[in-house]
Amino acid sequence: MPAQGQSASGFQAVGSVAVHTFEAQSATTAHQSMDGPHVNAMAGDHGGTDSARLADYDEVPQGHFYDPDAEYEPDPEYAATLAPDAARQRRERVGPTGRPLPYFPIPGPLTDHGPAKIIAMCNQKGGVGKTTSTINLGAALAEYGRRVLLVDFDPQGALSVGLGVNPMELDLTVYNLLMERGMAADEVLLKTAVPNMDLLPSNIDLSAAEVQLVSEVARESTLQRALKPLMADYDYIVIDCQPSLGLLTVNALTAAHKVIVPLECEFFALRGVALLTETIEKVQERLNPDLELDGILATMYDSRTVHSREVLARVVEAFDEHVYHTVIGRTVRFPETTVAGEPITTYASNSVGAAAYRQLAREVLARCHAE
Ligand SMILES: Nc1ncnc2c1ncn2[C@@H]1O[C@H](COP(=O)(O)OP(=O)(O)OP(=O)(O)O)[C@@H](O)[C@H]1O
Ligand SMILES: [Mg+2]
Repeated sequence: MPAQGQSASGFQAVGSVAVHTFEAQSATTAHQSMDGPHVNAMAGDHGGTDSARLADYDEVPQGHFYDPDAEYEPDPEYAATLAPDAARQRRERVGPTGRPLPYFPIPGPLTDHGPAKIIAMCNQKGGVGKTTSTINLGAALAEYGRRVLLVDFDPQGALSVGLGVNPMELDLTVYNLLMERGMAADEVLLKTAVPNMDLLPSNIDLSAAEVQLVSEVARESTLQRALKPLMADYDYIVIDCQPSLGLLTVNALTAAHKVIVPLECEFFALRGVALLTETIEKVQERLNPDLELDGILATMYDSRTVHSREVLARVVEAFDEHVYHTVIGRTVRFPETTVAGEPITTYASNSVGAAAYRQLAREVLARCHAE
């Protein structure tokens, strides 16, 4: 945790970057133009020009900023991945994606909850950080007082394992919720160790659903129907998809309002993304007109390698404003959290990895808020 004084100067530093961004880009996108008043609030100007819009954001709690200057818990390996870029980015006032970095305000507390926005974490490529991003985005949103439900929609049960649940010991899973009429979600729901965050776990049983659903009526909207009774209780439901574009993933896309596509910053990152966007478009046309691609999330970024930087530049070239400003660096801390069975936000709360997912949560909230 940065010391109190350091946080305060951190605020100033981040705020000034954001002011710059706002001036440089006045009236670009809705959420960026929203940053102006919040930045003023940060800089101590509580003059409250637009208090209605600020209602959610006028409190600026301490800590929780992604600030490259702040002293996070020592993690030399990770720090080294960011250091070369961090200096240049501060000089040029850009983020890792090479675009001006907006300030994402700290979200204020909510007075009531729901209806939930449903986010599908989706990429048919394996090992790109879907599960890691589901756990840690969920935990960061929960830290900001959002009620979060995570849905393990992969028969491998990695999300459940990552939250300390042994999938083999489960009697009831998301499979029962999907396939058994009259099954109440409460019977399947598990509380996680993170306050405000629940889990619909899964295990290998779910692989049978892929086959069994084929003969169901409205087979693509089975998950949507199962989640409906839960919508009022949560602010965000995040679905961790399996690495395929099969019927389970189509169910997740049909249930979702938004898709987040994690992309590993490596050579074949973009391979298969066309097929994924095509699938998203088909689901949009035929099953779920509300579905939107919220963003492409670059993961496992290592700025020390030209390769990683080139891949990220290519991704930004291809997807432009769809790419989140927040980029997740590569660190052994993430595999460690899986072993520990908890999110990085609690396992290594002051690490840069935790700060990155907190920033992602704020970016996701800012995008939702701008709608
Ligand atoms: N930023 C990161 N830095 C280093 N390792 C990471 C990072 N993110 C994830 N990992 C590790 O990479 C591996 C794959 O990540 P993860 O399980 O989140 O991907 P996935 O897309 O869900 O995979 P699958 O397609 O198999 O479900 C895991 O061991 C995880 O701990
Ligand atoms: Mg996974």
